[in-house]
Amino acid sequence: MCGIIGYAGKAGAEEFLLQGLKRLEYRGYDSAGIAVLDENEIQVVKCQGTLEKLEKRLRQERARGYLGIGHTRWATHGVPSDTNSHPHQDCQERFALVHNGIIENYQTLKADLKSAGHSFCSETDTEVLVHLLEEIHQGEMVTALRELQNRLVGSYALAVVDNREPDKIYALRQESPLVIGLGEEENYLASDMPALLNATSKFHILEDGDLAVLSENDISIFSSEGKEVKADIFQADWDDEMVQKQGYDHFMLKEIYEQPTVARRLLSAYLEPDRVNLPELTEIWDDEIDRVLITACGTAYYSGLAGRHILEELANLPVEVEIASELRYKKNFLDDKSLLLVVSQSGETADTLAALKLGKNSGSRVLALTNTIGSSIAREADAVIDLKAGPEIAVASTKAYLAMLTAFYLTGIKLAGLRATLPERELHSYRQELLKLPEKITAALDRVEESSRKAADYLKDYNSMFYIGRNLDYSLALEGALKLKEISFLHAEAYPAGELKHGTLALVEEGVPVMAIFTRRGLVSKTLSNVKEVKARGGKVIAIATAGTVEDKAEFDKFIELPACNELWAGVLTVLPLQLLAYHTAHRLGCSIDKPRNLAKSVTVE
Ligand code: AGP
Repeated sequence: MCGIIGYAGKAGAEEFLLQGLKRLEYRGYDSAGIAVLDENEIQVVKCQGTLEKLEKRLRQERARGYLGIGHTRWATHGVPSDTNSHPHQDCQERFALVHNGIIENYQTLKADLKSAGHSFCSETDTEVLVHLLEEIHQGEMVTALRELQNRLVGSYALAVVDNREPDKIYALRQESPLVIGLGEEENYLASDMPALLNATSKFHILEDGDLAVLSENDISIFSSEGKEVKADIFQADWDDEMVQKQGYDHFMLKEIYEQPTVARRLLSAYLEPDRVNLPELTEIWDDEIDRVLITACGTAYYSGLAGRHILEELANLPVEVEIASELRYKKNFLDDKSLLLVVSQSGETADTLAALKLGKNSGSRVLALTNTIGSSIAREADAVIDLKAGPEIAVASTKAYLAMLTAFYLTGIKLAGLRATLPERELHSYRQELLKLPEKITAALDRVEESSRKAADYLKDYNSMFYIGRNLDYSLALEGALKLKEISFLHAEAYPAGELKHGTLALVEEGVPVMAIFTRRGLVSKTLSNVKEVKARGGKVIAIATAGTVEDKAEFDKFIELPACNELWAGVLTVLPLQLLAYHTAHRLGCSIDKPRNLAKSVTVE
């Protein structure tokens, strides 16, 4: 979604802002712009389209100065266009403002401002903010921004500059992320940490309601009650190298091949030979808890569907999984006997955050599985498992999904221990096997690289395909189909294998590819029957299985074999060829892999 960047220092603001916007590109955008202050003049350069286009414009209309703000826009109110791009300005062009989020009462405010004589040039909700600021500013920005805040309904992270205070950037945060980065004689503002890792690893994360004032040598933060807050500066354990492609053609491929490291990092943080080290979960656990509810969106939701099988089998608890954008409207669903597991790579997904708040208000204990420490979800939760996947730049999530599954394994073993559902001997052997997972992931990547490429050669010629599996394999099928859809733009649907014959089989005809997943020995014969139904109608079957799971491969047109693995952990291996298949298919089709059309990395609006 939209990205915000700000710079106050001694170097050229224009170049810093442009580079920062490039680092925010991965969040998804359709237009971009910057405002730079030169003495008492604000220069705004903005356009619809790519940052290359903005860069060209900047060569023609230079915006020089030592302080400024920038923005990448992902259109919500009004089409992508030059005029709808941020920054927006008031009638007198005294202020320039950028915004991420949605102002829900913008129409009422706009009508009032129009009656008061303000004229608007865009269709955005954001432009209302800058005219409202112009209307209420009476000489003191902090007071004016507080007044502005009182009049707004919705979510916002915003940054504003004033030509009468050319050394300051003002920022406000309400339900949309905003971080401050600290440098030597310069300070920065951004929507997320990766945007600033080239400049600093020292950050302060703004809380909801916070107002910040940044200048070259100073930052001041005020809480929603107006009290000055001491900056809570922390050192990020992410570095700039982590947000580089490191020789790979795409971030997605780099992130796929990083997965053994991700699993190793996560396991070494939380797993010891004789215990799962999750004290926060022990602390919030209560024997009265009688169910687990998992909530998330997209890939994180699919990890939750897989997580359900893991938790049910290990901890013997009823587990439900709800899409966050649906859960948030449910009534009387959560209570103080529920453990709510909230899963989110970014930690900022608006629907997931809303579901978390609903859980807390209902008295549920909340455990967050997130890749972004310091994110809203991490801060709101009662306990956190840091996924330790490192910054994920490709819009299509790969390494974070693997980390989510691994975190579910850890949670499952921990809950099994707390609930004494399995003997210590068995838990010990699960832990031992889990410690070997990173090596297995490396071996699996080596083994499936070639077969996944070959399967992609076949898939690229079909515009519709199906993924089938039963139980855990169905949840993996869903993730595989989503990966293919989002980056190759081919139509892919996942079905529980037994469901195909209840309708969708009508779409299977000569050559239609059907991906069949086998990791569960006890279910092989059932899924094989469904494979035969596909074959009888001319479908082409690409099977993915862990070694030793399927003996009869006669019906498979292509076969991708994974190293043998404990059935419960097989998900992290199976997802690898699914990711590679999607990647190579999209590559053959010439798609924009890291930044697929219409999608944003961090979905901070409902
Ligand atoms: C993943 O490939 C998708 N881009 C998307 O479904 C994503 O998983 C979803 O938006 C949730 O994001 P989160 O994990 O940051 O909450």
